[in-house]
Amino acid sequence: MAYKYCLNEPTLDGNEIKYVTDVLQKGWLSAGGEYTKRFEQAFASLIGVKHGLAVQSGTAALHTAMLAMGIKPGDKVVVPNYTCGACVTSVLQAGAEPVVIDVEPNTFGMDVRILEEVLKSQTIKAVMVVHVYGFPVRDFDKIVELCKQYHALLLEDASEAHGATYQGRNIGTFGDMAVFSVRSEKMIGVGEGGLVLTDHTEFYDRARFFASRAAPHRSEKDPWWHKYIYTDVGMNYLLPHLLGAVGLAQVEKFPEILKRKRTVGYLYKELFSSVPGIRLQEIAPSSEPCFWLNCILLERSEEEVRRMGTELMMRGIEIRPAFWPLGDLPAFKRYASGSQEQAKELFRRMMVLPSSAKLTAEGVKEIVKEVRLLMEN
Ligand SMILES: Cc1ncc(COP(=O)(O)O)c(C=O)c1O
Repeated sequence: MAYKYCLNEPTLDGNEIKYVTDVLQKGWLSAGGEYTKRFEQAFASLIGVKHGLAVQSGTAALHTAMLAMGIKPGDKVVVPNYTCGACVTSVLQAGAEPVVIDVEPNTFGMDVRILEEVLKSQTIKAVMVVHVYGFPVRDFDKIVELCKQYHALLLEDASEAHGATYQGRNIGTFGDMAVFSVRSEKMIGVGEGGLVLTDHTEFYDRARFFASRAAPHRSEKDPWWHKYIYTDVGMNYLLPHLLGAVGLAQVEKFPEILKRKRTVGYLYKELFSSVPGIRLQEIAPSSEPCFWLNCILLERSEEEVRRMGTELMMRGIEIRPAFWPLGDLPAFKRYASGSQEQAKELFRRMMVLPSSAKLTAEGVKEIVKEVRLLMEN
């Protein structure tokens, strides 16, 4: 179905066509092209981190980060239950054990009190923090502090949070590593892609090593006949050149994309503030979201929420459901630690609304009006 208002659309009005054409004319389509290198550098400096590695998805970025940080069988990694399944599968791919905990009900991010309990009672190798829908987690400074205190590595999954800030600093600069997704509906989109960011040169080198088949003897200095010597179990994850070209053009446009997303987000916030029976995702103190997505939580039964969402879709407004609580899914249930009730409640009450950077003020007003009408009936 073609929607009048899509959940998200890519903004492709910069140098995308010019750069892609250049790549096609020059003929290097594979990994390691000049545009990809520029994309990695531009993205890393946009966020304010030393090293950036572009890979084929956010999922691949998470797996790469796990291996780069040395996560291995026997290790435990804390993962929030309200996020993409890739967060849990990346831990499992590294052979480690996810400890899936419930989230804080207002920002939908990691709950610092639950995290502290887990850190006190178990040996945890790493903590994965997810900034849901581009909203930084609450009490992030305390989470960072707890990770230090308990010697746990901190991985920021900033897949949804390009440009969001906490205490004036970009999300993605707080952990030992950060990952971003750049699939096409994200803040920056190349089709399918992801980035691994870190200030630690050792982690960066390991990320590049594992993402390029664990074949380290490929530089100009190495004897040519060493090219196919694999020294570990690696993957072929590096981003192809055509997508690197799109990525560079997207980074150039990012300030404008971010501005538009925030305009949409703040307008929703203002217009919904006076609607009874509707709650919005909360902005944590000292943070500014990038508003990748805007959602509403309805004081209605699960059946009512579903009916209203279906009705909105029939009126051309694309609706996305909440994440299914990861600790409640058959594939991941055995990794659930404690109650998963907060995420279940989010699932029952939530509708995610169109949040495209191309959405006009009139569009936002119309969507809010349609929701209000349904609430009244
Ligand atoms: C928080 C989060 N982490 C990881 C991913 C995985 O990224 P990708 O879809 O690029 O593999 C996503 C989804 O896109 C996500 O929202």
